[in-house]
Amino acid sequence: MKQVIVFHPNKTKKMNILLNVNGKLHTVEITDGNTPLLWVIRDILDLKGTKFGCGKAACGACTLHVDGEAVRSCSYAVKFAEGKTITTIEGIGTKDNPHPVQQAWIEEVVPQCGYCQPGFMMATAALLNKVPKPTDEDIDRSILNVCRCATYYRMRKAIHRAAELNTPEEPIETQNS
Ligand code: FES
Ligand code: FES
Repeated sequence: MKQVIVFHPNKTKKMNILLNVNGKLHTVEITDGNTPLLWVIRDILDLKGTKFGCGKAACGACTLHVDGEAVRSCSYAVKFAEGKTITTIEGIGTKDNPHPVQQAWIEEVVPQCGYCQPGFMMATAALLNKVPKPTDEDIDRSILNVCRCATYYRMRKAIHRAAELNTPEEPIETQNS
């Protein structure tokens, strides 16, 4: 009988990855560089603001920034994040000094259950870095996240409000990064 040999990579071999998250350096020990960045952020670094939704890069709940770009971290291998600047919802503002997007979200009372909202805010912050005064068409084209509570109308208002709050003297991305 023909023998079939299946090669299993050694997943128990550990490696260290250096990650720059919200302005702090972290050395994390992992067994697989293809581990989604989301799990490292949530389970190792204990930053729970970034959410798991679909796990297939479809809903946007897991959106964070890598080098200022909105990235769906459920489908982004942690090995690709090394040497880059990662920003999560915890890194863009504080309760006392909210990011313009967070301030706009508060003013427009956007969240319902709230689960999807960090991803939307991170996607919005990335959009405003590129397009400071987005039109409705810009928003429809760029913000493709999913909200099961259908807060889309209030979100659109909040995105326009965040654009008003954003000023050239206070770039929207850089409070903690
Ligand atoms: S959990 Fe990442 S896109 Fe849905
Ligand atoms: S506010 Fe509930 S899923 Fe968006």
